[in-house]
Amino acid sequence: MLDIEILNLTIVRVFCILAMQGLSFNQAYLPRMYGGSRRSGGTLEKIYTMGGRRLVGEIALSGSKNATLAILAGALLPAAGETVLTNVPRISDVQIMCDMLNRLGVKTNFIEQNTLVLDSTNLVSHEAPYELIKKMRASFSVLGPLLARFGRARVALPGGCDIGARPVDFHLKGLEQMGVTITVEHGFVEAIAPNGLVGAKIYLDFPSVGATTHLITAAALAKGTSTITNAAEEPDGISCAAFINRLGGRVEGAGTKTIQIEGVSQLTGADFWMDSDRIEAGTYAVAAAITGGDVYIRGAIEEHVEPATLKLQDSGVDVVFDRGGMRVSAPRPLKATNIKASPHPGFPTDLQPPFAAMLTLADGASVITETVYERRFKYIDELARMGADLKTEGNIAVITGVERLTGAPVAGSDLRATAALILAGLAAQGKSEISGLQYLDRGYEKFAEKLLGVGAELWRADESSEAGRK
Ligand code: EPZ
Repeated sequence: MLDIEILNLTIVRVFCILAMQGLSFNQAYLPRMYGGSRRSGGTLEKIYTMGGRRLVGEIALSGSKNATLAILAGALLPAAGETVLTNVPRISDVQIMCDMLNRLGVKTNFIEQNTLVLDSTNLVSHEAPYELIKKMRASFSVLGPLLARFGRARVALPGGCDIGARPVDFHLKGLEQMGVTITVEHGFVEAIAPNGLVGAKIYLDFPSVGATTHLITAAALAKGTSTITNAAEEPDGISCAAFINRLGGRVEGAGTKTIQIEGVSQLTGADFWMDSDRIEAGTYAVAAAITGGDVYIRGAIEEHVEPATLKLQDSGVDVVFDRGGMRVSAPRPLKATNIKASPHPGFPTDLQPPFAAMLTLADGASVITETVYERRFKYIDELARMGADLKTEGNIAVITGVERLTGAPVAGSDLRATAALILAGLAAQGKSEISGLQYLDRGYEKFAEKLLGVGAELWRADESSEAGRK
């Protein structure tokens, strides 16, 4: 069937579903930005799925959430000139980061849906308040750039979250090695570097993505050269380094275990294009696989998604790349496979939950080992409510494939867990209702719309509304 026919069929299908529910497209499918899953009046928004449909068609990826957040912290550095970021995902985490930057004096303006202009010439504060840091851990990374601009900073410590304690000791140790005096009291980091930051040799005990990107931005304006060894190799770090270099910085070795940053005296605003989101790409690839579908994922970058697509192929899924993206199809029953979530180029921990959902329907037993976070299996109990057969012991989950999943009410506990439960709902028999959209909206732009566009039967509604009760 020609693409245009698929597109027309999908549009007709969308409006038929809407007509049945008496809802406008915007009303039903445009998610509330900034975590608005609890509508005014306290009712709860959910995504509802009727499983069984093969997903067929094309999905266009948005820009990378995690690279964007690291780069937004780095956008504090230029003392002159505007920065224009294109292909920025419109998700609540990005909005929270913009709110943080505004509080510090950065002008931010979306001149188009996904094009963000920033001007950090006139910063007004070196203090990052707890009420914003607690909303989103990545905003802690404004600490280094604030030190680079002011010589001092006061930033609230981020809390933990549902997948782990998530300390920031690697960040603080690296800054101390760069000459920063740090005291932690009353939940705040007080940091001073009266003579500015100085280049240092920094060793990370663990290849932390956040610590790597944070220290790259901190070192960019330091006196002298810094080296980060045992650095994270994730594409997010490559993007962050490329951005700093666009501003006039001198970063080499990003994407490898050893990164060298030669400090410069000033950085100036520049234009920068955000790469596509590799975790979003893997999520929609699983959506195609779990429904036995055939989906073209536009914008997928092969070397970014390879750790996940190789595992899909292990499971009997066909993945074919071309210049514009990748085609994922699952014409055969899925096969069990083993996964070890570990730092890049290992299998990405953020795709562990979606892959687990897929493996609940694979022939045989799969073993998932999580080596990055201490508790990233909370969603397992929710999958079990849908009839999946899985057991966990510490950081290991054993999944025995079953014939079918059955729809059920389930609750997402973090961003990737909620996405995984929705994917399971697309394959389950009957209706599922998934809560936790305040997490989903943090990291996936137009998640429901994109799935709807390839034929999923799903809708987003208040549980108290007619659509929620149907
Ligand atoms: C980034 O988190 C991502 N978030 C995470 O994605 C991702 O899961 C993670 O990297 C690993 O790939 C963003 O980029 C905004 P880490 P980050 O520092 O930087 C421990 C998603 O769903 N650690 O690489 O916080 C830490 O506790 C999110 O998009 C320390 O002990 O991750 C964890 O166990 C979830 N001390 C491990 O290292 C530190 O100072 C990896 O953390 C820092 C980290």
